[in-house]
Amino acid sequence: MSDHIQINLGDHQYPLIINNAFNFSCLSKRLQDKKVLLVSNETVAPLYLDEIKSALPFCQLFECILPDGEQHKNLLSWELILNSLADCGLTRTDVLISIGGGVICDMTGFAAASWMRGVDFIQVPTTLLSQIDASIGGKTGINHPRGKNLIGAFHQPLAVMINTTTLQTLPQREFVAGIGEAIKYAGINQPDFAHWLSDNQTGIMSLDDEVLRELIVRCCRFKADLVEQDEKEQGIRALLNLGHTFGHALEAATAYQGYLHGEAVALGMVMAAELSFQLGFCDSELRKTLERLLRGFKLPYRLKKSIAAEQLVELMRLDKKVQSGQHRLILMKGLGQAFIAKGIEENDILNAIRACV
Ligand code: NAD
Ligand code: GLY
Repeated sequence: MSDHIQINLGDHQYPLIINNAFNFSCLSKRLQDKKVLLVSNETVAPLYLDEIKSALPFCQLFECILPDGEQHKNLLSWELILNSLADCGLTRTDVLISIGGGVICDMTGFAAASWMRGVDFIQVPTTLLSQIDASIGGKTGINHPRGKNLIGAFHQPLAVMINTTTLQTLPQREFVAGIGEAIKYAGINQPDFAHWLSDNQTGIMSLDDEVLRELIVRCCRFKADLVEQDEKEQGIRALLNLGHTFGHALEAATAYQGYLHGEAVALGMVMAAELSFQLGFCDSELRKTLERLLRGFKLPYRLKKSIAAEQLVELMRLDKKVQSGQHRLILMKGLGQAFIAKGIEENDILNAIRACV
């Protein structure tokens, strides 16, 4: 049995297909006799590439296997994908398929956006984080040495094929980091989802397939709803960045080795809650509620003493949401009441970070 969620974006739409197998039959017409470049990494390819190849008997397959890790989400890896596209002679009517976590999804999407000014691609996300967030909505990109995701494009996939069984091989720390992004939806506009997550913690952590499917379907719907309202992030989609401005700074400050992305977002949400409290937008309960939820899933909720608040603020100046030198942050008036706050003073940000050690 598979669940289908349709993303409707005015002139184009695409399905998110949530299944417990790799099944490309609904795309066989589009892929028939096409050249398809499978993009994966050294960790995921040995686990799933053979199975995926057998599920794609109707096209001409090529591979590009990249080194693993956020530190490789860079211009060099992007160039390696483009070199593979050139080597296999992939044309405008051919297709790329990403197989991996958010890093592979973002880089494959960006290569697809840039090759011949845009070719089709399919996302096959294999981490919880990429199944509930990164593969959906068409944000593609790579990191620049000065900051995360500074190079990129909006480019929507042809389809997102989610196989929940891939989560069985995911290291537990990576799985839990994905829960950080799930908790984000509760913080943005889904307060009841916080209760659902707490009530289903045992099923989630024991990788119960039915519970995982429901978790993924719920999160995909939450994200689809925001993306459909604002594809290019002119307004409400920015709420999806809750915890991210702090989180990206945490990742950059630790050279992408200290926190996994979902862990950094989790701690970033605590900082956003503290800042919201210090600026009088909410009471102190919000931070406590978030911390309880994060602690339950063993996600970080306190800043390591070795990271200086000043360094984080400096890194936050490069965030894409900074406008005319003023910080724009996603803050909360309560759980599920996120909003875009403009003109936030650096001193207030510093104080909030210091209160999260
Ligand atoms: P990741 O892609 O680095 O994957 C985490 C680790 O798990 C990697 O070592 C990977 O090789 C391994 N892995 C993947 N699937 C596996 C499996 N099934 N079994 C065993 N190992 C597996 O990290 P992530 O958390 O998936 O994604 C984080 C990235 O996503 C960040 O770069 C972030 O910026 C990006 N992101 C993008 C969006 C977006 O909207 N485009 C949203 C959120 C996050
Ligand atoms: N992860 C943020 C977004 O997709 O807009």
